[in-house]
Amino acid sequence: MRLMASIEPVRWGILSTANINRLVIPGLQTSPVTELLAVASRDESRAQQYAEQWRIPRAYGSYEALLADPDVEAVYIPLPNAMHVEWSIRALEAGKHVLCEKPLGRDPAEVERAFEIAGANEKLLMEAFMWRFHPQTLHLQLLVETLSPISLIDAKFGFTAQNDGDVRLSRELGGGALMDVGCYCISAARLLAGEPERVVGRQKIGGDGVDVHFNGELFFANGVQATFECGLDMKEIDELRVDGEGGSVYLDDPWHGREPVIVLMTPLETREIRESGIDAYQAEVENFSRAARGLELPFLGREDALGQARTIDALYRSAEAGGQEVQIASS
Ligand SMILES: NC(=O)c1ccc[n+]([C@@H]2O[C@H](COP(=O)([O-])OP(=O)(O)OC[C@H]3O[C@@H](n4cnc5c(N)ncnc54)[C@H](OP(=O)(O)O)[C@@H]3O)[C@@H](O)[C@H]2O)c1
Repeated sequence: MRLMASIEPVRWGILSTANINRLVIPGLQTSPVTELLAVASRDESRAQQYAEQWRIPRAYGSYEALLADPDVEAVYIPLPNAMHVEWSIRALEAGKHVLCEKPLGRDPAEVERAFEIAGANEKLLMEAFMWRFHPQTLHLQLLVETLSPISLIDAKFGFTAQNDGDVRLSRELGGGALMDVGCYCISAARLLAGEPERVVGRQKIGGDGVDVHFNGELFFANGVQATFECGLDMKEIDELRVDGEGGSVYLDDPWHGREPVIVLMTPLETREIRESGIDAYQAEVENFSRAARGLELPFLGREDALGQARTIDALYRSAEAGGQEVQIASS
């Protein structure tokens, strides 16, 4: 049984009335280690309405105003991707801990700068990859060890973005399939195989100039090859398969884990391993809050976010060069 130290709840603020908040707010409002204190929107009346709807005590008509509230200790940033690094840095400089939605950034130098500013201000910065907090993911890691050595990883994540105003279809706002959903496939490959050395990417452009479909291959020093396909133009698909010497594992819903089940296939058996579902968003904000109080290490840190950015950057460079192989610089 886990021993839970009783801690003063960390007081949180949210920058924007983003759609994803509806999945994060319940955990923030029920956990004993968090208190949701404030929300900000670009529009004052939207902030007020949103605060009433979600019973959030304080509403601000600008992100700056929320960052100026001395009672807010940690900020959750679910802004469009192109705004992640800028607002993470602004929040860190205002003395807040920052949990920023994925992907933190696609430029490794910018991501590195954000972590340097976090360090200089003695604040936490974490890229919010909630799938990493799901027990299904932890179980996956253990099972993959038993199949070792692994040779192939294949991941898929796609759906249809239908709304013309969707931030995912805007180049200016950092949209695109690789940024939105492909980053999960990369996260899985890196979790299971380490840092890739070389990548190949191919993209189909749509929206207002974003990759609406992206296929990639990642090559690792240990011989593992990972392939992935992601899209904003696909029927809903979420899959992960790993092949190793000892057999294979297949996950039908690796990223959300709504009804988590891992299929294990070995020469001796095929078995379904069911997990209990949990609120992975709550697990994420709880780990972050305990880390902010110095009681735990943050589950995801600088190296992970940097590895993500380096891989995304290399994949886009490969796709822009028509699918040429690109080496990833490790520092
Ligand atoms: N972890 C997950 O499971 C998960 C799932 C979905 C999305 N996400 C991530 O969460 C982030 C937000 O995604 P979302 O789908 O929730 O987006 P969204 O509903 O479009 O929300 C983005 C918010 O950003 C604010 N904003 C500021 N400048 C904007 C601009 N120029 N155009 C549009 N909005 C602007 C708006 O809030 P105000 O008007 O109130 O200021 C808007 O509500 C993305 O980084 C995405 O990758 C994560």
